[in-house]
Amino acid sequence: RDGYDFVVVSNRLPVDRDVDEAGNSSWRRSPGGLVSALAPVMAQRDGAWVGWHGAPDETLEPFDHDVFHLVPVMLSELEVKRYYEGFSNATLWPLYHDVIASPEFHRTWWYAYRRVNERFARMAAETASQGATVWVQDYQLQLVPRMLRRLRPDVTIGFFNHIPFPPTEIFSQLPWRRAVLDGLTGADLIGFQRPGDAQNFQRCVRKYLGVQFTKGAAQFSESTAEGTDTTWTVNAGSYPISIDVDSIKELADSPEVQARAREIREELGNPETIFLGVDRLDYTKGIGHRIKAYGELLHDGELSVADSVLIQVASPSRERVDSYRQLRELVEGMVGRINGQHDTISHTAIRYLHHGYPFEEMVALYLAADVMLVTALRDGMNLVAKEYVAARRDRSGALVLSEFTGAAEQLRQAVLVNPHDIDGLKEAMLYARDMPRAEARKRMASMRRQVLTHDVVDWSQRFLADLAGHARAGRDTP
Ligand code: G6P
Repeated sequence: RDGYDFVVVSNRLPVDRDVDEAGNSSWRRSPGGLVSALAPVMAQRDGAWVGWHGAPDETLEPFDHDVFHLVPVMLSELEVKRYYEGFSNATLWPLYHDVIASPEFHRTWWYAYRRVNERFARMAAETASQGATVWVQDYQLQLVPRMLRRLRPDVTIGFFNHIPFPPTEIFSQLPWRRAVLDGLTGADLIGFQRPGDAQNFQRCVRKYLGVQFTKGAAQFSESTAEGTDTTWTVNAGSYPISIDVDSIKELADSPEVQARAREIREELGNPETIFLGVDRLDYTKGIGHRIKAYGELLHDGELSVADSVLIQVASPSRERVDSYRQLRELVEGMVGRINGQHDTISHTAIRYLHHGYPFEEMVALYLAADVMLVTALRDGMNLVAKEYVAARRDRSGALVLSEFTGAAEQLRQAVLVNPHDIDGLKEAMLYARDMPRAEARKRMASMRRQVLTHDVVDWSQRFLADLAGHARAGRDTP
Protein backbone atom coordinates (compact mmCIF):
# COMPACT_ATOMS: atom_id res chain seq x y z
CA ARG A 1 0.00 0.00 0.00
CA ASP A 2 1.06 3.62 -0.51
CA GLY A 3 0.52 4.80 3.03
CA TYR A 4 -2.21 6.33 5.15
CA ASP A 5 -4.19 9.50 4.41
CA PHE A 6 -4.42 10.67 8.02
CA VAL A 7 -1.56 10.20 10.46
CA VAL A 8 -1.51 11.19 14.11
CA VAL A 9 1.88 11.46 15.81
CA SER A 10 2.11 11.61 19.60
CA ASN A 11 4.62 10.57 22.23
CA ARG A 12 2.37 7.77 23.44
CA LEU A 13 0.35 5.38 21.28
CA PRO A 14 -3.40 5.40 22.06
CA VAL A 15 -3.21 1.91 23.61
CA ASP A 16 -2.02 0.47 26.91
CA ARG A 17 -0.62 -2.99 27.35
CA ASP A 18 -2.01 -5.56 29.79
CA VAL A 19 0.17 -8.51 30.65
CA ASP A 20 -1.52 -11.52 32.26
CA GLU A 21 0.06 -14.00 34.67
CA ALA A 22 1.18 -16.29 31.87
CA GLY A 23 3.03 -13.34 30.34
CA ASN A 24 0.65 -12.90 27.38
CA SER A 25 0.15 -9.31 26.48
CA SER A 26 -2.92 -7.66 24.98
CA TRP A 27 -3.73 -4.07 24.10
CA ARG A 28 -6.50 -1.87 25.40
CA ARG A 29 -7.55 1.55 24.09
CA SER A 30 -6.18 4.27 26.40
CA PRO A 31 -8.72 6.37 28.25
CA GLY A 32 -8.89 10.06 27.45
CA GLY A 33 -10.59 12.56 25.19
CA LEU A 34 -7.98 12.81 22.44
CA VAL A 35 -8.12 9.09 21.73
CA SER A 36 -11.92 8.94 21.65
CA ALA A 37 -12.10 12.08 19.50
CA LEU A 38 -9.71 10.74 16.90
CA ALA A 39 -10.99 7.16 16.79
CA PRO A 40 -13.91 8.00 14.44
CA VAL A 41 -11.62 10.10 12.23
CA MET A 42 -9.18 7.16 12.06
CA ALA A 43 -11.91 4.76 11.04
CA GLN A 44 -13.33 7.13 8.44
CA ARG A 45 -10.16 8.45 6.87
CA ASP A 46 -7.83 5.47 6.65
CA GLY A 47 -5.72 6.60 9.54
CA ALA A 48 -2.55 5.52 11.32
CA TRP A 49 -1.06 6.53 14.67
CA VAL A 50 2.68 6.85 15.24
CA GLY A 51 3.86 6.77 18.86
CA TRP A 52 5.86 5.12 21.62
CA HIS A 53 4.40 1.92 23.09
CA GLY A 54 5.74 2.65 26.59
CA ALA A 55 8.43 -0.05 27.03
CA PRO A 56 12.09 0.97 26.76
CA ASP A 57 14.43 -0.92 24.42
CA GLU A 58 11.66 -2.88 22.70
CA THR A 59 11.16 -2.87 18.93
CA LEU A 60 7.64 -3.68 17.74
CA GLU A 61 6.33 -4.04 14.19
CA PRO A 62 3.29 -1.97 13.15
CA PHE A 63 0.00 -3.67 14.08
CA ASP A 64 -3.75 -3.10 14.00
CA HIS A 65 -5.89 -2.69 17.10
CA ASP A 66 -9.61 -1.79 17.02
CA VAL A 67 -9.91 1.15 14.60
CA PHE A 68 -6.21 2.02 14.79
CA HIS A 69 -3.27 1.14 12.61
CA LEU A 70 -0.44 1.57 15.12
CA VAL A 71 3.15 2.34 14.23
CA PRO A 72 5.34 1.88 17.33
CA VAL A 73 8.45 4.01 17.75
CA MET A 74 11.33 2.46 19.69
CA LEU A 75 12.99 4.38 22.54
CA SER A 76 16.11 3.07 24.24
CA GLU A 77 16.38 3.16 28.04
CA LEU A 78 18.80 6.07 27.74
CA GLU A 79 16.41 7.94 25.42
CA VAL A 80 13.58 7.45 27.91
CA LYS A 81 15.85 9.08 30.51
CA ARG A 82 17.06 11.92 28.35
CA TYR A 83 14.26 12.63 25.87
CA TYR A 84 11.17 11.73 27.93
CA GLU A 85 12.04 12.14 31.62
CA GLY A 86 14.77 14.71 30.92
CA PHE A 87 14.09 17.18 28.14
CA SER A 88 10.32 16.70 27.88
CA ASN A 89 9.47 16.50 31.57
CA ALA A 90 12.31 18.20 33.46
CA THR A 91 13.13 20.94 30.91
CA LEU A 92 10.07 21.78 28.79
CA TRP A 93 7.29 20.85 31.23
CA PRO A 94 8.43 23.17 34.06
CA LEU A 95 9.54 25.87 31.59
CA TYR A 96 6.14 25.92 29.90
CA HIS A 97 4.31 25.88 33.26
CA ASP A 98 5.54 29.19 34.67
CA VAL A 99 8.78 27.62 36.04
CA ILE A 100 6.83 26.31 39.06
CA ALA A 101 9.72 23.85 39.33
CA SER A 102 13.15 24.88 38.04
CA PRO A 103 13.79 23.64 34.52
CA GLU A 104 17.09 21.86 34.02
CA PHE A 105 19.08 22.48 30.88
CA HIS A 106 21.38 19.68 29.73
CA ARG A 107 22.90 19.38 26.30
CA THR A 108 22.81 15.59 26.37
CA TRP A 109 19.01 15.79 26.94
CA TRP A 110 18.62 18.17 24.03
CA TYR A 111 20.61 15.92 21.68
CA ALA A 112 18.38 13.01 22.63
CA TYR A 113 15.24 15.12 22.11
CA ARG A 114 16.41 16.05 18.62
CA ARG A 115 17.36 12.49 17.75
CA VAL A 116 14.05 11.07 18.96
CA ASN A 117 12.04 13.81 17.18
CA GLU A 118 13.93 12.88 14.01
CA ARG A 119 12.88 9.25 14.47
CA PHE A 120 9.20 10.20 14.92
CA ALA A 121 9.41 12.44 11.83
CA ARG A 122 10.92 9.64 9.75
CA MET A 123 8.25 7.16 10.87
CA ALA A 124 5.52 9.69 10.04
CA ALA A 125 7.11 10.33 6.62
CA GLU A 126 7.17 6.59 5.89
CA THR A 127 3.58 6.13 7.04
CA ALA A 128 1.86 9.04 5.23
CA SER A 129 0.45 8.70 1.71
CA GLN A 130 0.99 11.34 -1.01
CA GLY A 131 -0.73 14.56 0.11
CA ALA A 132 -1.76 13.09 3.48
CA THR A 133 -2.63 15.09 6.59
CA VAL A 134 -0.32 14.58 9.56
CA TRP A 135 -1.34 15.85 12.99
CA VAL A 136 1.50 16.10 15.53
CA GLN A 137 0.59 16.33 19.24
CA ASP A 138 2.23 18.16 22.11
CA TYR A 139 5.48 19.47 23.56
CA GLN A 140 7.43 16.20 23.33
CA LEU A 141 7.47 16.52 19.52
CA GLN A 142 7.95 20.19 18.70
CA LEU A 143 10.72 19.58 16.18
CA VAL A 144 8.71 17.10 14.14
CA PRO A 145 6.77 19.58 11.94
CA ARG A 146 9.84 21.12 10.27
CA MET A 147 11.69 17.79 10.05
CA LEU A 148 8.67 16.22 8.41
CA ARG A 149 8.22 19.10 5.97
CA ARG A 150 11.79 18.57 4.77
CA LEU A 151 11.22 14.86 4.29
CA ARG A 152 7.73 15.20 2.81
CA PRO A 153 6.90 18.65 1.42
CA ASP A 154 3.68 17.21 -0.07
CA VAL A 155 1.92 16.53 3.26
CA THR A 156 -0.26 18.93 5.26
CA ILE A 157 1.04 19.31 8.80
CA GLY A 158 -0.90 20.29 11.91
CA PHE A 159 0.50 20.68 15.42
CA PHE A 160 -1.42 20.99 18.67
CA ASN A 161 0.22 22.12 21.91
CA HIS A 162 -1.78 20.65 24.80
CA ILE A 163 0.08 22.60 27.48
CA PRO A 164 0.55 26.37 27.95
CA PHE A 165 3.00 28.26 25.74
CA PRO A 166 5.11 30.51 27.98
CA PRO A 167 5.61 34.27 27.71
CA THR A 168 8.79 35.43 25.92
CA GLU A 169 10.53 36.31 29.20
CA ILE A 170 10.36 32.68 30.31
CA PHE A 171 10.76 30.99 26.92
CA SER A 172 13.97 33.01 26.46
CA GLN A 173 15.71 30.88 29.09
CA LEU A 174 15.74 27.90 26.75
CA PRO A 175 19.21 27.57 25.20
CA TRP A 176 17.62 25.95 22.11
CA ARG A 177 14.78 28.46 21.74
CA ARG A 178 15.42 29.15 18.04
CA ALA A 179 15.61 25.48 17.14
CA VAL A 180 12.28 24.80 18.91
CA LEU A 181 10.54 27.67 17.11
CA ASP A 182 12.05 26.50 13.82
CA GLY A 183 10.66 23.05 14.49
CA LEU A 184 7.14 24.24 15.24
CA THR A 185 6.96 26.59 12.27
CA GLY A 186 7.24 23.67 9.89
CA ALA A 187 3.49 23.21 10.46
CA ASP A 188 0.68 24.70 8.35
CA LEU A 189 -1.42 25.21 11.48
CA ILE A 190 -0.33 25.37 15.12
CA GLY A 191 -3.10 25.13 17.68
CA PHE A 192 -2.96 26.33 21.29
CA GLN A 193 -5.38 26.07 24.19
CA ARG A 194 -5.86 29.80 24.85
CA PRO A 195 -5.56 32.93 22.72
CA GLY A 196 -2.86 34.04 25.19
CA ASP A 197 -0.74 30.97 24.37
CA ALA A 198 -0.99 31.72 20.64
CA GLN A 199 0.05 35.33 21.32
CA ASN A 200 3.03 34.23 23.43
CA PHE A 201 4.12 31.96 20.60
CA GLN A 202 3.77 34.69 17.97
CA ARG A 203 5.81 37.11 20.07
CA CYS A 204 8.57 34.53 20.51
CA VAL A 205 8.65 33.93 16.75
CA ARG A 206 8.93 37.64 16.09
CA LYS A 207 11.68 38.03 18.64
CA TYR A 208 13.79 35.00 17.77
CA LEU A 209 13.01 34.25 14.13
CA GLY A 210 12.29 37.83 13.06
CA VAL A 211 9.00 36.83 11.43
CA GLN A 212 5.85 38.82 12.09
CA PHE A 213 2.40 37.23 12.25
CA THR A 214 -0.50 39.22 10.83
CA LYS A 215 -4.01 38.05 11.72
CA GLY A 216 -2.60 34.75 12.92
CA ALA A 217 -0.60 33.98 9.76
CA ALA A 218 3.02 34.35 8.69
CA GLN A 219 5.11 33.39 5.65
CA PHE A 220 8.09 31.07 5.95
CA SER A 221 10.56 29.90 3.39
CA GLU A 222 13.51 27.58 3.20
CA SER A 223 16.04 26.52 0.58
CA THR A 224 16.04 22.81 -0.16
CA ALA A 225 19.13 20.67 -0.71
CA GLU A 226 18.55 21.02 -4.46
CA GLY A 227 18.79 24.79 -4.13
CA THR A 228 15.13 25.58 -4.80
CA ASP A 229 13.12 27.71 -2.38
CA THR A 230 9.93 26.50 -0.77
CA THR A 231 7.48 28.85 0.91
CA TRP A 232 4.52 28.11 3.10
CA THR A 233 2.14 29.91 5.42
CA VAL A 234 2.07 29.13 9.13
CA ASN A 235 -1.18 29.81 10.96
CA ALA A 236 -1.43 29.97 14.75
CA GLY A 237 -4.63 30.16 16.76
CA SER A 238 -6.51 28.90 19.79
CA TYR A 239 -8.50 25.66 19.84
CA PRO A 240 -9.51 24.92 23.44
CA ILE A 241 -9.73 21.16 23.84
CA SER A 242 -12.65 19.46 25.53
CA ILE A 243 -13.87 16.06 26.64
CA ASP A 244 -15.83 13.12 25.29
CA VAL A 245 -19.15 14.40 26.61
CA ASP A 246 -21.27 11.44 25.40
CA SER A 247 -19.27 8.80 27.21
CA ILE A 248 -19.40 10.73 30.49
CA LYS A 249 -23.12 11.39 30.15
CA GLU A 250 -23.70 7.74 29.44
CA LEU A 251 -21.83 6.71 32.59
CA ALA A 252 -23.47 9.42 34.69
CA ASP A 253 -26.89 8.16 33.51
CA SER A 254 -26.14 4.54 34.30
CA PRO A 255 -27.91 3.07 37.35
CA GLU A 256 -24.76 1.13 38.34
CA VAL A 257 -22.60 4.27 38.46
CA GLN A 258 -25.30 6.14 40.37
CA ALA A 259 -25.57 3.29 42.86
CA ARG A 260 -21.81 3.33 43.26
CA ALA A 261 -21.93 7.10 43.97
CA ARG A 262 -24.47 6.50 46.76
CA GLU A 263 -22.35 3.68 48.10
CA ILE A 264 -19.27 5.95 48.23
CA ARG A 265 -21.25 8.44 50.32
CA GLU A 266 -22.44 5.74 52.67
CA GLU A 267 -18.99 4.22 53.04
CA LEU A 268 -17.74 7.65 54.09
CA GLY A 269 -20.43 7.80 56.80
CA ASN A 270 -22.79 10.14 54.89
CA PRO A 271 -20.86 13.37 55.40
CA GLU A 272 -22.63 16.64 54.69
CA THR A 273 -19.96 17.74 52.24
CA ILE A 274 -17.64 15.72 50.05
CA PHE A 275 -14.80 17.77 48.59
CA LEU A 276 -12.98 16.11 45.69
CA GLY A 277 -9.63 16.60 43.95
CA VAL A 278 -8.59 14.48 40.96
CA ASP A 279 -5.17 14.99 39.43
CA ARG A 280 -2.05 13.36 38.14
CA LEU A 281 0.40 13.78 41.00
CA ASP A 282 2.06 16.81 39.37
CA TYR A 283 3.46 20.01 40.93
CA THR A 284 1.48 22.12 38.45
CA LYS A 285 -1.82 20.97 39.98
CA GLY A 286 -1.66 22.91 43.25
CA ILE A 287 -2.43 19.81 45.32
CA GLY A 288 -0.34 21.11 48.24
CA HIS A 289 -2.15 24.47 48.21
CA ARG A 290 -5.52 22.74 48.33
CA ILE A 291 -4.50 20.42 51.16
CA LYS A 292 -3.04 23.32 53.12
CA ALA A 293 -6.30 25.27 52.78
CA TYR A 294 -8.28 22.21 53.83
CA GLY A 295 -6.06 21.62 56.86
CA GLU A 296 -6.45 25.23 57.96
CA LEU A 297 -10.23 25.06 57.65
CA LEU A 298 -10.19 22.03 59.96
CA HIS A 299 -7.88 23.82 62.35
CA ASP A 300 -10.07 26.96 62.32
CA GLY A 301 -13.13 24.85 63.12
CA GLU A 302 -14.85 25.89 59.87
CA LEU A 303 -14.90 22.23 58.86
CA SER A 304 -14.92 19.11 60.97
CA VAL A 305 -14.09 15.51 60.13
CA ALA A 306 -17.56 14.50 61.25
CA ASP A 307 -19.31 16.54 58.58
CA SER A 308 -16.76 16.85 55.75
CA VAL A 309 -14.19 14.83 53.91
CA LEU A 310 -11.66 15.59 51.20
CA ILE A 311 -11.08 12.80 48.69
CA GLN A 312 -7.85 13.39 46.83
CA VAL A 313 -7.16 11.05 43.93
CA ALA A 314 -3.53 11.56 42.91
CA SER A 315 -2.67 9.20 40.09
CA PRO A 316 1.01 8.24 39.88
CA SER A 317 2.90 10.11 37.18
CA ARG A 318 6.50 10.42 35.91
CA GLU A 319 7.75 8.79 39.06
CA ARG A 320 11.40 8.64 38.06
CA VAL A 321 11.65 12.45 37.67
CA ASP A 322 13.13 14.10 40.82
CA SER A 323 10.64 16.95 41.17
CA TYR A 324 7.78 14.41 41.07
CA ARG A 325 9.41 12.33 43.81
CA GLN A 326 9.83 15.43 45.94
CA LEU A 327 6.23 16.43 45.38
CA ARG A 328 5.05 13.02 46.50
CA GLU A 329 7.05 13.31 49.73
CA LEU A 330 5.62 16.79 50.33
CA VAL A 331 1.98 15.88 49.68
CA GLU A 332 2.11 12.62 51.62
CA GLY A 333 3.79 14.39 54.55
CA MET A 334 1.07 17.02 54.61
CA VAL A 335 -1.73 14.47 54.40
CA GLY A 336 -0.14 12.42 57.18
CA ARG A 337 0.19 15.43 59.49
CA ILE A 338 -3.34 16.69 58.89
CA ASN A 339 -4.89 13.26 59.28
CA GLY A 340 -2.81 12.54 62.35
CA GLN A 341 -4.04 15.71 63.96
CA HIS A 342 -7.72 15.62 62.99
CA ASP A 343 -8.78 12.01 62.42
CA THR A 344 -11.00 10.22 64.89
CA ILE A 345 -11.47 6.48 65.19
CA SER A 346 -14.48 6.74 62.89
CA HIS A 347 -13.54 9.61 60.54
CA THR A 348 -10.64 10.50 58.30
CA ALA A 349 -9.98 14.08 57.23
CA ILE A 350 -8.36 13.38 53.86
CA ARG A 351 -8.78 10.20 51.85
CA TYR A 352 -5.61 10.23 49.83
CA LEU A 353 -5.55 7.72 46.99
CA HIS A 354 -2.32 7.28 45.08
CA HIS A 355 -3.76 5.10 42.32
CA GLY A 356 -5.32 5.35 38.92
CA TYR A 357 -8.99 4.30 38.74
CA PRO A 358 -11.26 3.03 35.97
CA PHE A 359 -13.29 5.78 34.39
CA GLU A 360 -16.61 4.46 35.82
CA GLU A 361 -15.23 4.92 39.34
CA MET A 362 -14.14 8.47 38.48
CA VAL A 363 -17.62 9.35 37.26
CA ALA A 364 -19.11 7.83 40.43
CA LEU A 365 -16.79 10.10 42.43
CA TYR A 366 -17.87 13.12 40.37
CA LEU A 367 -21.50 12.24 41.13
CA ALA A 368 -20.77 11.79 44.83
CA ALA A 369 -18.80 15.05 45.26
CA ASP A 370 -20.51 18.25 46.38
CA VAL A 371 -17.52 20.49 45.74
CA MET A 372 -14.89 19.83 43.08
CA LEU A 373 -11.51 21.45 43.71
CA VAL A 374 -9.32 22.31 40.71
CA THR A 375 -6.54 24.50 42.05
CA ALA A 376 -3.80 24.18 39.42
CA LEU A 377 -1.02 26.78 39.52
CA ARG A 378 -0.84 26.55 35.75
CA ASP A 379 -2.67 24.16 33.44
CA GLY A 380 -3.07 24.15 29.64
CA MET A 381 -6.76 23.27 29.94
CA ASN A 382 -7.72 20.92 32.84
CA LEU A 383 -10.23 18.39 31.62
CA VAL A 384 -11.19 17.22 35.12
CA ALA A 385 -13.11 20.50 35.57
CA LYS A 386 -15.06 19.83 32.37
CA GLU A 387 -15.66 16.18 33.27
CA TYR A 388 -17.15 17.15 36.63
CA VAL A 389 -19.51 19.59 34.92
CA ALA A 390 -20.54 17.03 32.29
CA ALA A 391 -21.26 14.44 34.99
CA ARG A 392 -23.54 16.72 37.10
CA ARG A 393 -26.76 15.75 35.37
CA ASP A 394 -29.01 17.20 38.09
CA ARG A 395 -27.18 20.56 37.95
CA SER A 396 -26.18 20.38 41.61
CA GLY A 397 -22.61 20.69 42.88
CA ALA A 398 -20.03 23.46 42.81
CA LEU A 399 -16.73 23.84 41.03
CA VAL A 400 -13.85 25.76 42.60
CA LEU A 401 -11.56 26.51 39.66
CA SER A 402 -8.15 28.12 39.42
CA GLU A 403 -7.97 31.14 37.16
CA PHE A 404 -4.64 29.77 35.89
CA THR A 405 -6.25 26.97 33.92
CA GLY A 406 -7.34 27.13 30.29
CA ALA A 407 -10.74 25.86 31.46
CA ALA A 408 -11.31 29.07 33.45
CA GLU A 409 -11.70 30.93 30.16
CA GLN A 410 -14.72 28.81 29.30
CA LEU A 411 -16.20 27.99 32.72
CA ARG A 412 -16.80 31.57 33.82
CA GLN A 413 -19.52 30.51 36.27
CA ALA A 414 -17.18 28.43 38.40
CA VAL A 415 -16.03 29.85 41.74
CA LEU A 416 -12.76 31.23 40.37
CA VAL A 417 -9.72 31.36 42.65
CA ASN A 418 -6.08 32.33 42.79
CA PRO A 419 -4.70 29.19 44.49
CA HIS A 420 -1.65 31.06 45.81
CA ASP A 421 -4.02 33.11 47.98
CA ILE A 422 -4.71 30.53 50.70
CA ASP A 423 -7.22 32.76 52.53
CA GLY A 424 -9.04 33.40 49.26
CA LEU A 425 -9.02 29.69 48.51
CA LYS A 426 -10.45 28.87 51.97
CA GLU A 427 -13.21 31.43 51.48
CA ALA A 428 -14.01 30.02 48.04
CA MET A 429 -14.22 26.49 49.45
CA LEU A 430 -16.68 27.59 52.13
CA TYR A 431 -18.59 29.70 49.62
CA ALA A 432 -18.92 26.68 47.32
CA ARG A 433 -20.10 24.54 50.23
CA ASP A 434 -22.68 27.07 51.44
CA MET A 435 -23.88 28.41 48.11
CA PRO A 436 -27.70 28.64 47.92
CA ARG A 437 -29.16 25.80 45.85
CA ALA A 438 -30.61 28.16 43.28
CA GLU A 439 -27.29 29.87 42.69
CA ALA A 440 -25.46 26.55 42.40
CA ARG A 441 -28.00 25.30 39.84
CA LYS A 442 -27.76 28.49 37.85
CA ARG A 443 -23.99 28.35 37.72
CA MET A 444 -23.90 24.64 36.90
CA ALA A 445 -26.56 25.01 34.19
CA SER A 446 -24.53 27.72 32.52
CA MET A 447 -21.29 25.70 32.69
CA ARG A 448 -23.11 22.63 31.35
CA ARG A 449 -24.36 24.59 28.36
CA GLN A 450 -20.75 25.46 27.57
CA VAL A 451 -19.36 21.94 28.00
CA LEU A 452 -22.22 20.02 26.38
CA THR A 453 -22.08 22.16 23.23
CA HIS A 454 -18.29 22.04 22.83
CA ASP A 455 -17.05 18.49 23.02
CA VAL A 456 -13.77 17.03 21.87
CA VAL A 457 -15.20 15.89 18.54
CA ASP A 458 -16.10 19.52 17.74
CA TRP A 459 -12.57 20.46 18.75
CA SER A 460 -10.90 17.99 16.40
CA GLN A 461 -13.28 18.83 13.55
CA ARG A 462 -12.66 22.54 13.91
CA PHE A 463 -8.90 22.07 13.96
CA LEU A 464 -8.89 19.67 11.01
CA ALA A 465 -11.25 21.84 8.93
CA ASP A 466 -9.06 24.91 9.53
CA LEU A 467 -5.94 22.87 8.76
CA ALA A 468 -7.38 21.72 5.43
CA GLY A 469 -8.50 25.27 4.58
CA HIS A 470 -5.17 26.87 5.45
CA ALA A 471 -3.19 24.22 3.63
CA ARG A 472 -5.24 24.76 0.47
CA ALA A 473 -4.84 28.53 0.71
CA GLY A 474 -1.14 28.21 1.64
CA ARG A 475 -0.38 26.09 -1.42
CA ASP A 476 -2.16 28.55 -3.72
CA THR A 477 0.07 31.43 -2.65
CA PRO A 478 2.92 31.95 -5.11
C1 G6P B 1 -0.31 15.89 29.86
C2 G6P B 1 0.40 16.06 28.52
C3 G6P B 1 0.31 14.79 27.68
C4 G6P B 1 0.75 13.59 28.49
C5 G6P B 1 -0.05 13.48 29.79
C6 G6P B 1 0.39 12.31 30.67
O1 G6P B 1 -1.68 15.84 29.67
O2 G6P B 1 -0.12 17.17 27.82
O3 G6P B 1 1.11 14.92 26.52
O4 G6P B 1 0.62 12.41 27.73
O5 G6P B 1 0.11 14.69 30.51
O6 G6P B 1 1.76 12.34 30.93
P1 G6P B 1 2.76 11.19 30.47
O7 G6P B 1 4.12 11.77 30.66
O8 G6P B 1 2.48 10.03 31.37
O9 G6P B 1 2.48 10.85 29.03
